[in-house]
Amino acid sequence: MSDEAEKNIVGQKYRRVLLKLSGEILAGEDKTGINVATIESLASQIHEIHKLGVEIAIVIGGGNIFRGMKAASEGMDRATADYMGMMATIINGLALMDFLEKQGLISRLQSAIEIKSIAESFIRRKALRHLEKKRVVILSGGTGNPYFTTDTTAALRAIELSADVILKATRVDGVYDDDPEKNKNAKRYKNVSYMEALQRQLKIMDSTAFSLCMDNKMPIKVFDIKKQGNLKKAVEGDSVGTLINSKEGAEYYVD
Ligand code: GTP
Repeated sequence: MSDEAEKNIVGQKYRRVLLKLSGEILAGEDKTGINVATIESLASQIHEIHKLGVEIAIVIGGGNIFRGMKAASEGMDRATADYMGMMATIINGLALMDFLEKQGLISRLQSAIEIKSIAESFIRRKALRHLEKKRVVILSGGTGNPYFTTDTTAALRAIELSADVILKATRVDGVYDDDPEKNKNAKRYKNVSYMEALQRQLKIMDSTAFSLCMDNKMPIKVFDIKKQGNLKKAVEGDSVGTLINSKEGAEYYVD
């Protein structure tokens, strides 16, 4: 996105968003698996923003079912473990599609790994067509390659699909300038630049994902999706979470 486009979009309703949902979010209060009440509430929040006319692509993780990196750290072959993680994202994608359709939202599941009897293959132009037709597109299977996270997938797909922003759904209310659990004076950013986030080593995404966003000026909004209604607020403006973009000079919340 150009600097001009980025400037115009800040503070306005986004037209096309890439929502990144981790597998852990789907687990809700349970540590693993899919919590039905949680996925229902996510689907209803997605429905809310769909009603605003926003085009929605979703990249979904798989950590609630299988964590590739953890298995690799315990001795499993990293590539095999990552493929298992990618399969987990397809399972989550199927569940999310089901719950979205129960809300009456037309959705399409695509996968970066060929699994034709279960999901469409990821085809960029087809995904764009679905978005134009206001279908929710769920992008599963990661990038289709081991050694890449679903945050990197989110960055890549957001750029490929010309999304206005990555909405990174988390369980925290934004990014702080220090660890709020260790430093009670830590301040929460409303807006922080890529450069400052790098210099302060704020852990927003892994370095591959973050570099992709920074190099392509893809804004990232980190927000707490647990609170019903926050997704709509994140789409409508800057009242929740932290926006990371190329704008210099950090802004903080006055809590
Ligand atoms: P349009 O081309 O805009 O009409 O899109 P469409 O998605 O409605 O049409 P299409 O005929 O491509 O798809 C009809 C249904 O089949 C949709 O639910 C798709 O998600 C699904 N579908 C399409 N291609 C595949 C595939 O390769 N595998 C699987 N499992 N489903 C597919």
